[in-house]
Amino acid sequence: MRDASPQTIYLKDYTPFGYIIDAVDLTFRLDPTATRVISRLSLRPNPEASDPCFFLHGEDLKLISAKIDGQDIAPRLIEGGLEADVPNAPFVWETEVEINPQANTALEGLYMSNGMYCTQCEAQGFRKITYYPDRPDVMSVFTVRIEGNTDTTPQLLSNGNKVETGALSNSDAQFAVWHDPWPKPAYLFALVAGDLVAHQDSIVTMSGKTVQLAIWVRPGDENKCSFGMDALKKSMRWDEDVYGREYDLDEFNIVAVDDFNMGAMENKGLNIFNSSCVLASAETSTDANFERIEAIIAHEYFHNWTGNRITCRDWFQLCLKEGLTVFRDHQFTADERSAPVARIDNVLALRARQFPEDQGPLSHPVRPESFQEINNFYTATVYEKGAEVIGMLKTLVGDAAYAKALDLYFDRHDGDAATIEDWLKVFQDSTGRDLSQFKRWYSQSGTPQVTVREDYDGDTFTLHMSQSTAPSTEQPNKLPQVIPVAVGLLDDAGNEILPTQVLELDQDEKSFSFSGMSARPTPSILRNFSAPVMLTQEGGNSRRAFLLAHDTDPFNRWEAGRMLARASLVDSITTGSAPNPDYLSGLVAVLSDTTLDPAYRALMFGQPTQSELAGILHESSTAPDPQAIHDASETLRAAKAETLADMLPDLYAQNQVTGPFSPDAEAVGKRALANAALALLSRQDGGATAALQYQNSDNMTQQLAALAALLDVGAGDDHLAAFEAQWSHDRLVMDKWFSLQIMQAKPEDVADTTRRLTLHADFDMKNPNRFRAVMGALSMHHAGFHHDGGAAYTLLTDWLIKLDPLNPQTTARMCSAFQTWTRYDAGRQALLRAQLERLVATPNLSRDTSEMITRILG
Ligand code: ARG
Ligand code: ZN
Repeated sequence: MRDASPQTIYLKDYTPFGYIIDAVDLTFRLDPTATRVISRLSLRPNPEASDPCFFLHGEDLKLISAKIDGQDIAPRLIEGGLEADVPNAPFVWETEVEINPQANTALEGLYMSNGMYCTQCEAQGFRKITYYPDRPDVMSVFTVRIEGNTDTTPQLLSNGNKVETGALSNSDAQFAVWHDPWPKPAYLFALVAGDLVAHQDSIVTMSGKTVQLAIWVRPGDENKCSFGMDALKKSMRWDEDVYGREYDLDEFNIVAVDDFNMGAMENKGLNIFNSSCVLASAETSTDANFERIEAIIAHEYFHNWTGNRITCRDWFQLCLKEGLTVFRDHQFTADERSAPVARIDNVLALRARQFPEDQGPLSHPVRPESFQEINNFYTATVYEKGAEVIGMLKTLVGDAAYAKALDLYFDRHDGDAATIEDWLKVFQDSTGRDLSQFKRWYSQSGTPQVTVREDYDGDTFTLHMSQSTAPSTEQPNKLPQVIPVAVGLLDDAGNEILPTQVLELDQDEKSFSFSGMSARPTPSILRNFSAPVMLTQEGGNSRRAFLLAHDTDPFNRWEAGRMLARASLVDSITTGSAPNPDYLSGLVAVLSDTTLDPAYRALMFGQPTQSELAGILHESSTAPDPQAIHDASETLRAAKAETLADMLPDLYAQNQVTGPFSPDAEAVGKRALANAALALLSRQDGGATAALQYQNSDNMTQQLAALAALLDVGAGDDHLAAFEAQWSHDRLVMDKWFSLQIMQAKPEDVADTTRRLTLHADFDMKNPNRFRAVMGALSMHHAGFHHDGGAAYTLLTDWLIKLDPLNPQTTARMCSAFQTWTRYDAGRQALLRAQLERLVATPNLSRDTSEMITRILG
C-alpha cells in the first residue's frame, strides 16, 4: 500500500496471465490477530499467453510456507507479491500465510467489524488474504473451508453452496465447507464469520428451482430485514421477467456489516452490504433510505449476471459491469416506482456528482486509460455516466434491438472476462449499426455542450444544433459524439403537434427541419434528458414558463421549472434582483394541480443546489461568492414561502398519510410533498406544525423532516437533544443526527459545529459511515465549507491526514470535496492550495490519497 514511486497502469499494456487455474482450495483458520490461510491452486500453463512469468500478488502477508507439488520451495518475495520458478506443465501450488484481521483498519481484504470477520476484495483486496494472481481475467472454481471458534463465530459463510459442516475434534471449534461451481475472479471471493442471525425466506425461480434466501445481521437487527428481503425477491423476479436471467445457486446470502468503505458488494452468492444499505425499519429509516436500499439490493443482485457470470477482463473495463448494472437498477426503480420521478432523481444525482467531476481536474473517460489506484475510479463517471451511455445506446437502437443485443451478450459471453469492445460488437452484430463513433462516449472525457438555434420561415421550423466539448490535457481535440436529442413540438396552446422524436446529433453542427408548420411551434428539447449534456437554447424565461405550464414530457416540464429557478438565482446573485415572479406563479400552478403525482410535485419544490450554482457561475467566468449564493438561495426560499403561504397548510394537510407505515411509492410521494410544504410552512408558523409532527411521528421520515424544519427556523435545540437520547443506541440513526446539525448550521457556524461533533464520544473516525456523516456534511455545506477564512478547509484536511494511515480508500474518496477548488476567487484558491499541498506533503501518504491530490492540484 505504501509506495515510494506510485506506478501508473495502462490499458494498452494488457497481457493475459501465463497460467490457468483449474481449481482453488482455501482453508481459513480464523483468529482475530493471526488467521492462517492455506491456499492450494491447481495450475497449468496458459496456451494463449506468451509470458511464462509466475508472479502472484500479495500484500501485508506473512509467508509461512510455499510448496510446488508437495515440495517446499523458497519463492522470491518482491514488491507487491512473489515470483517463483515453476514447471512448464500442470502443477499444484500451495502456500500458507498468516494475516491479522484485527489490525486491518483499511477494511480491504479480511478484516473485523464489531467482532465479525468479513471481506472486501474488489478491486484488489484478495492479495491481502493470500498470494494469488489478483486480476479479474483469472477465473477459477473455489472451494473454501472455514474453521472458527464455535462461540464467537457460530456462522461461517462463503460463496456458493454450503456442502459440509462439522465439529473439530479436541477443540471448541467447528468448520464449514463451501463450494462455488461458477468460475470467478478473486475479487468476487467473500468470507463472513460471526455471531449472526438470519432473516430467511425462499423463492422458486422461473425454471422451478427453490433458492434459500437469507439476510444475516447482528442479533438485535432481525426486525430490520423484511424490506430488504422483499426487495431481493422483487429484483430476482424482475431480472427473470425483463432480462430472462435466472439465479444459479441453491442459496443466496446477504450480510450486513457496520464498517464498510462503500455501499455494498456483489460477491458470488454472498453479497456483503454496508448496514446502512440494507437494514430498514419505519422507525429508523427515511423514505429516501428505503428507496436507496431497494436500489442497492437490486444493483448487487443484478451483478450476478452483469459482473459475475460475465465479468471484466481488466479494471479499465469497470463500466462494463457497473454502467450496465446501474442502468439495470435504474430501470428496475422506474418500473417499481414512478418512471418520471426516477428519471429526475437520476439526473439530479448526475448533475450533483458526475458533472462536477467531468468539468474539473478529476475528469476521466467512462473507460479510463490509466490509473495508479483503481479504487479511485469507482466514480460517478464510471457508474452514472456509464449508465447514461447505455441508456443512449438503447434510445438509438430501440427497445427491441436492445433486448435482442442483450440476449446475444449473455449467450456469447457467459463465463467470459469481457471488454467494452466485446459489448459494442454484440450491438454491432445484432443491429448492423456501426458504433465506432458511439464508442467515443467511452473514450472521451468531459460533458458535451449542445447549443440549439431555431428558424421558422412560415412553413418550415428548423433546429440548428451544435456540439462541443471542452479540451482536456490528455485530449486537446474532442471529436463530435453521437448525441440522441429527443424533441417534441408544442403549439401555442400547449398541445403536442409533434410527439417525441429522437434526432441524432452526430456532427459538430447539424440541422433538423420540420415542414408544414402553419405557426411557429415551441420545441421541447432533450426530453427525458436523452443525453448527459449541457443544453443552451433559445426562448429565455418566457419559454421556460410556457414549458413549465404545458410541456407534455414530465421531465422537461420539471426541467423548465428548474431552469427558471436557476436563472432567477443567477440574476439575484449577479445583479441583486428579486426572485422571478414567473417562476413563483408557475410553481403555484403546478403545485395546485392535484392531477399530478405528489412525488413529482414534491420535486417541483426543489431548487438548484448552491454548489450547482457555483459551477454555473464559474462556467460563465464569474468567481462564485459562496455567501452571496447562500443568501440568494435563502431569499428565493423565503419568497416561495410567502407566495405559497395560502396553499401550504392545505398541501400539508391533504398529503398526510394515514394507516400503518408503508414505504410504497404513493405514501412516499405524499410524505415528500407534505414535508416539502412543512419546510416552508415553518417559516410562517415558527415551527409550530413541525413540533407537532415531531411529537406525533411514528417513523423516521416524519421525525427527521420535522427536526430539520425546526433546526432551520432556529427552534430545534431541545428536539436535537431528545433525538440523541432516543437514538443513541442506533448507529445508523445517530449518523443522521451528526449530519443534520452540520447541514442545518449557519455558514459561519459550520466549521465550529463540525469540530464540536468530532469531540463527541460517539464520533469514531474508523467507521466510514460516521466519518462521512460528519466530514461529508462539512464538505457538502457549500457556504459553510467555503466560508471566509478557510477554517473548514483546514479542519477537513486535518481529518484526512489523520484518517489516511488507517483507511486510505475512504480518505481518498473524501478528497473529491476539493475537486472544484479552481472555481473560486484568488483568496480562496490560495487557502485551498495551501491545504492540498499540506496534505500531499504528508509523509507516507497512501497511494490512494496521493493520486487524488496530485490529480486535483493538476
Ligand atoms: N462492485 C461494488 C458495487 O458497485 C462496488 C465495490 C467497490 N469497492 C471498492 N473498494 N472499490 O456494487
Ligand atoms: Zn456495482
